This record gives sequence, C-alpha cells and structure tokens, in this order.
Amino acid sequence: MNSPLCTIPRTIALCVAAGLLWSSAATAGDIEDSNSACLDCHDGEESAIHFADGATLTVGISADAWKKSGHAAEVRCKDCHAAIKDYPHPAVNFPTKRAYQLDRAQSCKRCHYAYHTKAQDSIHAKELAKGNQKAPTCTDCHGMHNEADKADRQAVTLRCGSCHAKISAQYAQSVHGEGWGKASANVPMCVDCHGAHAILDPRKAAFHTRSWDICSKCHADAEKMAGTGLSTQVVETYLDDFHGRSNERYAQGAGTPGKPIATCSDCHGVHDIRSFRAAKKNGTLQSEVIVACRKCHKDAPPAFADAWLSHEPPTLATAPLVVLIQWGYRVLIPLIMAGLVLHILLHLWRARVHR
Ligand code: HEC
Ligand code: HEC
Ligand code: HEC
Ligand code: HEC
Ligand code: HEC
Ligand code: HEC
Ligand code: HEC
Ligand code: HEC
Ligand code: HEC
Repeated sequence: MNSPLCTIPRTIALCVAAGLLWSSAATAGDIEDSNSACLDCHDGEESAIHFADGATLTVGISADAWKKSGHAAEVRCKDCHAAIKDYPHPAVNFPTKRAYQLDRAQSCKRCHYAYHTKAQDSIHAKELAKGNQKAPTCTDCHGMHNEADKADRQAVTLRCGSCHAKISAQYAQSVHGEGWGKASANVPMCVDCHGAHAILDPRKAAFHTRSWDICSKCHADAEKMAGTGLSTQVVETYLDDFHGRSNERYAQGAGTPGKPIATCSDCHGVHDIRSFRAAKKNGTLQSEVIVACRKCHKDAPPAFADAWLSHEPPTLATAPLVVLIQWGYRVLIPLIMAGLVLHILLHLWRARVHR
C-alpha cells in the first residue's frame, strides 16, 4: 500500500478498508462491503487515467448513482473489473479512450453471454468488427455505473439519438415522436422497430420486403390502437392490394423481389411519418400520394394515384368494379365446384347402375 493516495492523511482509513477487502475472500453477503471499499476511494475521486493520444478520463464514480443502478444489489465492482485485485492497479495502456472503453465492455459477456451472442449478428457489431469504433458496444446503450443503466426503452432511445442525431430529430417531429410525450400513447421508439441487440441493416432488400410487419404489430392490434381513432384495417387492406400481396409472398420465403415493391414506409415515410388527414381535407391527397408512386412508377400521371384504393375495404360506392368482380368470384367458384362434383357423381352412377 504505497500509493500516492495513501500518503494523504484523509485516505488512511480508506486504505485500511481496501486492505481488508483484498485480504478476505468476499462471499455473497460481502457484496456491499466489497463495493464500498472501492467506492471509498472512487466516490468523488478527481485523479485520472491517461491515454497515448493525450486524452484523459477521471476515475470518480458516484456512490449514490451506483446504488440506484441495476447491478448494485448483486454484482461487485470486481466482477467486471476482474484484473483489479490491489492498489496500485495494473497500468492502463491504451492508444485512445475509445479503445479503452471497447476493451472494458468485453466484461459483460461473462454474465450476459446470451445478449453478447445475439448482438454479434447486429449491424453495430459488424461495424465494430470492420474497425468502425463509432458503433456502439453494450455500455454505449446501457452505461455501467448509473441508474439510467437500467434496460429502459425510453432512456435507450435517447442514446440512439446521441449518435443518430439527424434521424432522431426527424423522429421527434413525426406522428410517432409527437405522441411520445403523451402519457397514454403507445407509439414506437427506435427499438420497437429496429430491435435492440439484433439490429439488422434496414437498407437490405429483405428488410424492406418485411418492414410492413413491423407496423402491423401495432396498427393491426385493436388494443394498441385504442383511443387513437385510427383504423385497424390498414394492414389487412394493404395485404389485399397488389403491392402487399407480393411483399407478403416474399416475406414468407419466396426469395427477394427484383426491385422494391411499395411497403407502408414508401407511402408514409419512416422517421418523418405525418398524417394524411390534412391532405384529405384540403383535397391535395392525390398530388401528395403521386409523389410517392413516382419513386418507382416514373412518369405516372396524377390519376395513377387513384389506383390505390385507400385503406377502406372496397365498397359498391367507392370501387364498384372491384366489388362486382369479388362477388362474381364468390358466386362463380362455388357453382363451378358444385358442377364438378355433380359431374363426377353422375359418372360414378353411370358406371355402377347403367353399366
Ligand atoms: C486507494 C484508493 C483506491 C482504491 C481502494 C481503489 N481504487 Fe481504483 N483507482 C484509484 C486511482 C487513484 C485510480 C487512477 C489510476 C491509478 O492511479 O491507477 C484508479 C483507477 C481505477 C480504474 C480505471 C483504470 C482501469 O484499470 O480500468 C478502475 C476500473 C478502478 N480503479 C476500479 C477499482 C475497483 C474495482 C476497486 C475495488 C476493488 C478500486 N478501484 C479500488 C484508486 C483506488
Ligand atoms: C457491469 C460491469 C461493471 C461494474 C459492476 C462496475 N464497472 Fe466500472 N467500468 C465498467 C466498464 C465497462 C468501464 C469502461 C468505461 C467506459 O466505457 O467509460 C468501467 C470504468 C470504470 C472506471 C474508469 C472511469 C470511468 O468512468 O470510465 C472506474 C474508476 C470504475 N469503472 C470503477 C468502478 C467501481 C468503483 C465499481 C463498483 C462500485 C465499478 N466500476 C463497477 C464496468 C463495470
Ligand atoms: C458478474 C456478472 C455480471 C456482469 C459481468 C455484468 N452483469 Fe449485467 N446483470 C447481472 C445480474 C445478476 C443482473 C440482474 C439484476 C436484476 O435483474 O435485478 C444484471 C442485469 C443487467 C441489466 C438489466 C438491469 C435492469 O435493472 O434493467 C443490464 C442492462 C445489464 N445487466 C447490463 C450489463 C452490462 C452492459 C454489462 C457490462 C458492462 C454487464 N451487465 C455485466 C450480472 C452481471
Ligand atoms: C444499441 C443499443 C444496445 C446495445 C448496443 C446493447 N443493448 Fe442491451 N438493451 C437495449 C435495450 C433498448 C434494452 C431494453 C429491452 C428491449 O427493448 O429489448 C436492452 C436490454 C438488455 C438487458 C436486460 C433485459 C431485461 O429484460 O432485463 C440486458 C441484460 C442487456 N440488454 C445486455 C446487453 C449486453 C451484454 C450488450 C452487449 C453485448 C448489450 N445489451 C448491448 C439496448 C442495447
Ligand atoms: C455510440 C453510437 C451509436 C449508438 C448509441 C447507436 N448507434 Fe446505430 N450506428 C452507429 C454507427 C457508427 C453505425 C454504422 C453506420 C454509420 O456509420 O452510420 C450505426 C448503424 C445503425 C443502423 C444501420 C443503418 C446504417 O446507417 O448503417 C441502424 C438501423 C442503427 N444504427 C440503429 C440504432 C438504434 C435503433 C440505436 C439505439 C437502440 C442505435 N443505433 C444506437 C452508431 C450508434
Ligand atoms: C416506425 C418504425 C421505426 C421507428 C420508430 C424508427 N425506425 Fe429507423 N427505420 C425504420 C425502417 C422501416 C427503416 C428502413 C427505411 C427504408 O426502407 O428506406 C429504417 C431505417 C433506419 C436507418 C438506416 C437508414 C437511414 O435512413 O439512414 C437508421 C440508421 C435508423 N432507421 C435509425 C433509427 C433511430 C435512431 C430511431 C429512433 C430515433 C429509429 N430509426 C426509429 C423504422 C423505424
Ligand atoms: C409500437 C406501436 C406502433 C408501431 C410499431 C407503429 N406505429 Fe404508427 N402509430 C402508433 C400510434 C399509437 C399512433 C397514434 C399517435 C398519436 O395519434 O399520437 C400511430 C400513428 C401513425 C400514423 C398517423 C395516422 C394519422 O392519420 O393520424 C401513421 C401514418 C402511422 N402511424 C404509420 C406507421 C407505419 C408506416 C409504421 C411502420 C413503419 C408504424 N406506424 C409503426 C403506433 C405504432
Ligand atoms: C400505396 C400507398 C400506401 C401504402 C402502401 C400504405 N398506406 Fe397507409 N395511407 C395511405 C394514404 C393515401 C392514406 C390516407 C387516405 C386514407 O385514409 O385512406 C393512408 C392512411 C393511413 C393511416 C390512417 C388511417 C386512419 O384511420 O385515418 C394509417 C394508420 C396508415 N395509413 C398506416 C399504414 C400501414 C401500417 C401500412 C402498411 C401495412 C400502410 N399504411 C400502407 C397510403 C398508403
Ligand atoms: C417502392 C416502389 C413502389 C412504389 C413507391 C409504388 N409501387 Fe406500385 N408497384 C411496384 C412494383 C415493383 C410493382 C409490380 C409488382 C408486383 O406487385 O409484383 C407495382 C405494381 C403496381 C400496380 C399493378 C400494375 C402494374 O403497373 O404492374 C399498380 C396499379 C401500382 N403499382 C400502383 C401504385 C400506386 C398508385 C402507387 C403510389 C400510391 C405505387 N404503386 C407506388 C413498386 C412500387
């Protein structure tokens, strides 16, 4: 115990506590004692560790914040900081602060191996593996020493925004982001659509083809839509339409389409979703929707937008031809089937009775 800290009278008691910690093998009941031995030095500590590029990181850990964290009751500091057995601690040799953080985050997998494994397939882990150190590791979303480290979707959504600032700002203005502040709103946050640990690359065709299913988790669910006044037939009507039918087949495993087929987000946007209600009221719906159609159907005339039947199931008033053809099928197909069966029965009868 010949650390510079121990020469300061104020810390003599702390050094004794630390000595006690390291001389006894801690049992489960010792968790709090074990941690307070570390915190006695670290709470409010102002010294820092240094990195080769000149950056520094102060080693103060707030004891109050730690006690509110998800780990405080069951985990010891030493469980994550396994290399630290004594003071002075082993030297810290990292080129940058980020390299240090990425290295220390490897400690999580000891206990949360399932999450570690799941996260390996995510776009973030792939970026890290490629050497993109800006991509997040466990601690960028969860932290490690604070109350906010609990697995809270809302807190984590703010953290997504710390790196994806542009998207996050767009989202805040969208119908979903606006609803976020309302107590009753069941609006989606980043992780509801992207997941948390197995975030896939949304620019891949396979993601696009299935993305309507993300929306269906809420927009086809009467309970989640309760109080919003929104139709829960939007998914059903989409799937009954030409684009939806094709995408559903591909999502069920028919490969990937040669070119993207319209899904919810092609008409509504994604992070910037707005209601079409105002456009409907002002009579500008057609001119707004045609912009979406032209992303794929180049040079489509304005009236082309009307090929979209809206999310209303077709009725005699709105789409008489569709309804008549539907009813035509409903009557014709049973009649043809009945005729077929009758035909076979007559044959059998003839074969047996009128040989
Ligand atoms: C005697 C005071 C003292 C005690 C007790 C103490 N530390 Fe430290 N710790 C420091 C100081 C000072 C630093 C700054 C770097 C240095 O001087 O080594 C530090 C640095 C650290 C670091 C950053 C460097 C690294 O290796 O990642 C960690 C983590 C750390 N301590 C964890 C712990 C844990 C866990 C315990 C309890 C098992 C503990 N400390 C006990 C004083 C102490
Ligand atoms: C759940 C694992 C975990 C536990 C438990 C934990 N730490 Fe850490 N700690 C980390 C990680 C990971 C880092 C890397 C720092 C980063 O990403 O900023 C770190 C960094 C530190 C640092 C360096 C300064 C800093 O803010 O980054 C100190 C000091 C430290 N821990 C002390 C403690 C003490 C004291 C305790 C117990 C009260 C503790 N740690 C408990 C995971 C943990
Ligand atoms: C020594 C084993 C151990 C290590 C190492 C560990 N954890 Fe944990 N973690 C636990 C236990 C035990 C719980 C359960 C606490 C509970 O459910 O009350 C937990 C819970 C959590 C939770 C949920 C907390 C909540 O209240 O919602 C998160 C998030 C978490 N850990 C993240 C991490 C991260 C990030 C790391 C690495 C920096 C890490 N853990 C390292 C044992 C560990
Ligand atoms: C991009 C952000 C992000 C990253 C990176 C991340 N997580 Fe999470 N994690 C979350 C969110 C959000 C939740 C909340 C649950 C949910 O919505 O799935 C969560 C939940 C958890 C939980 C608690 C589950 C529960 O129900 O109590 C643990 C444990 C956990 N993560 C560990 C880890 C570990 C270990 C890593 C690193 C391999 C990691 N996480 C990486 C965002 C992330
Ligand atoms: C520490 C910063 C950081 C955090 C926190 C973070 N990301 Fe990322 N994310 C990145 C980086 C870096 C990439 C790689 C591509 C790039 O450079 O834009 C990426 C890529 C992605 C991609 C793939 C699309 C693309 O542009 O490559 C998605 C989707 C994504 N992140 C969603 C999220 C979500 C959702 C959260 C919160 C749960 C989150 N991210 C948290 C840094 C972060
Ligand atoms: C309502 C569901 C939903 C929510 C909420 C959502 N996303 Fe997305 N996100 C998507 C879809 C769908 C795509 C694919 C867009 C496409 O097909 O062009 C996407 C694409 C992305 C991309 C890659 C493409 C790009 O534009 O760079 C990133 C990064 C991303 N989201 C991050 C976030 C973050 C961060 C949040 C939270 C602020 C968030 N998303 C919230 C559904 C969502
Ligand atoms: C977690 C549930 C959830 C998910 C997932 C979700 N939404 Fe929503 N959405 C809502 C809620 C709740 C509202 C109502 C918000 C309000 O009025 O405050 C809403 C509102 C809307 C509106 C506005 C309707 C209007 O005219 O007012 C559109 C459009 C919309 N969502 C499209 C989508 C699309 C497209 C997706 C998929 C990319 C999606 N939503 C995913 C819950 C969800
Ligand atoms: C081809 C373009 C297009 C596609 C694809 C599309 N929508 Fe719409 N959606 C619209 C238009 C235009 C409106 C406004 C006119 C109306 O009410 O029918 C609308 C209205 C809505 C509304 C408001 C309904 C209400 O009760 O006021 C919601 C919610 C919605 N769509 C969600 C979705 C979801 C979820 C999907 C995918 C399953 C989807 N949309 C696919 C064009 C589209
Ligand atoms: C993301 C690209 C994309 C967008 C946006 C899009 N479509 Fe399509 N659409 C397709 C593809 C691809 C097909 C042919 C494929 C299929 O369904 O198998 C198609 C087929 C059609 C068909 C069937 C007849 C034909 O031309 O093959 C009609 C009608 C149609 N779309 C109307 C619309 C309308 C109206 C809009 C705007 C509200 C729209 N589409 C927006 C990609 C798109």
